[in-house]
Amino acid sequence: MTAELIDGVGALVTNDPGLVTDDPARGDGGPLGVLTGAAVVVQRGRVVWVGRSADAPAADRRYDAGGRALLPGFVDSHAHLVFAGDRTAEFNARMSGRPYGAGGIRTTVAATRAADDAALEANLARLVGEALRQGTTTVECKSGYGLTVADEARSLRIAARHVDEVTYLGAHVVPPEYADDPGGYVELVTGAMLDACAPYARWVDVFCERGAFDADAARAVLTAGMARGLVPRVHANQLGPGPGVRLAVELGAASADHCTHLDDADVDALAHGETVATLLPGAEFSTRGRYPDARRLLDAGVTVALSTDCNPGSSYTSSMPFCVALAVREMGMTPDEAVWAATAGGARALRREDVGRIVPGARADLMLLEAPSHVHLAYRPGVPLVRAVWRAGRRVPG
Ligand code: NIG
Ligand code: FE
Repeated sequence: MTAELIDGVGALVTNDPGLVTDDPARGDGGPLGVLTGAAVVVQRGRVVWVGRSADAPAADRRYDAGGRALLPGFVDSHAHLVFAGDRTAEFNARMSGRPYGAGGIRTTVAATRAADDAALEANLARLVGEALRQGTTTVECKSGYGLTVADEARSLRIAARHVDEVTYLGAHVVPPEYADDPGGYVELVTGAMLDACAPYARWVDVFCERGAFDADAARAVLTAGMARGLVPRVHANQLGPGPGVRLAVELGAASADHCTHLDDADVDALAHGETVATLLPGAEFSTRGRYPDARRLLDAGVTVALSTDCNPGSSYTSSMPFCVALAVREMGMTPDEAVWAATAGGARALRREDVGRIVPGARADLMLLEAPSHVHLAYRPGVPLVRAVWRAGRRVPG
C-alpha cells in the first residue's frame, strides 16, 4: 500500500476475506456486510462505489490492498480532550487499591484553568493525531474541565477547530467555588454559560451521578440546552445505579454513555427508545470497575456503541482497537458486534449517516489492517494492526 491520496477516481482493492462495509444489506448477510474480493472507489473524498472488484468501474488509479482487511474508520463518539496536566499519581494510587471517584475531575479543572489556549490546543491536537493514526477518523469532544463561562467557552472554541463533534459539558461536576451553592452553579450552566457555549456546540451533556448532578439538575441542564437547539446525551449509571439512563431515553437523547449499573427498567427503556447505549470499557479498565454487560443490552435489542472516553482521569486511552478487544474479552460481545459498535454504532450515537460505513455517499474514511480480517482487532490485542488510514480520501501521515 503506497497510496498517498485516493482521489480522482481511485480504487482500493482488497482480497479475501475482505472489506467491512457496515451495511448489512451487502456481502455475507451478517451485520458487518463483509464483502470478499471487493473494491471501493473514491472520488473527491467520498465513496462513490463499493462492490466486487471484478465489477469495479474504470479508475484512474488502482491500489492493491494485498489481502488485508479494509474497514470504515473508527467513530469515537465520547472523549474529553480539552484539558491540561495528567493524573498519573491518582492512577498509581488506584492501582494500589484506592477507589475511583468523580472528585479527581477537580484536579484537572485546576490545571486546565491555569493553562493558556496554546497549551490546551497543543494537547488536544496531540490526542486527535494519536487517535487518527490508530484509525479514528471521527471524534466527539466535550468541554467540562473549565467550569467557568470563559473556560468552558474557550474549551469548545478550541475543540471545534480540531474535531467533528463538539459537546457542552458545563455540568461535569460542581466546581469548588460553588460547593456551598450547587443550585447557583446549575443556574450558571443553564444561563450565562450556555449562552457563551451554545454557538460552538451541537450537543449538551451532563454527568448524572451521585456526587455530580441529580435527576432534577440533569433535567434542567438538558432541557435548557435543548431549548437552545442542542441535542442531549448523558453520562449515565457509570458509578452506580441511578436515573440517568431513563432520563436520557425520556428526553430522546442521542446516547446514554457508560451504562454500567443498569436494572431491568433501564434496559427496557433503552430497548424501546431511540437512545444508543455507548459503552466505554477503557473507564472500567482504568478504574478497575465492573464492565458493562453488553450482551444483556444486545440481547434486549439495544443499539450499542463503543468509545474510548479518553480523558486524563478515568480512561487515558485514545485507542479504539483496545476498546474493541476489551469489549470482546470482558463484555460478552462478538468481534463482529464490537467492530460494528466502534464504527457504525458510534455514528448512530452521533446521528451521522456519512461516517462509520463504507457505502456510496459516505466520507471516504478508511482503515487498512495489517491483518487478513477485522477479527484480529480482538484476536491480537495490543498489537499495532492499523497499517494505513484515510480520512475524506486523504492518507493520514503515519
Ligand atoms: O466519563 N464521568 C465523568 N467524566 C469522565 C471522567 C473524568 C475524569 O475523571 O476526569 C468519564 O469517565
Ligand atoms: Fe466521559
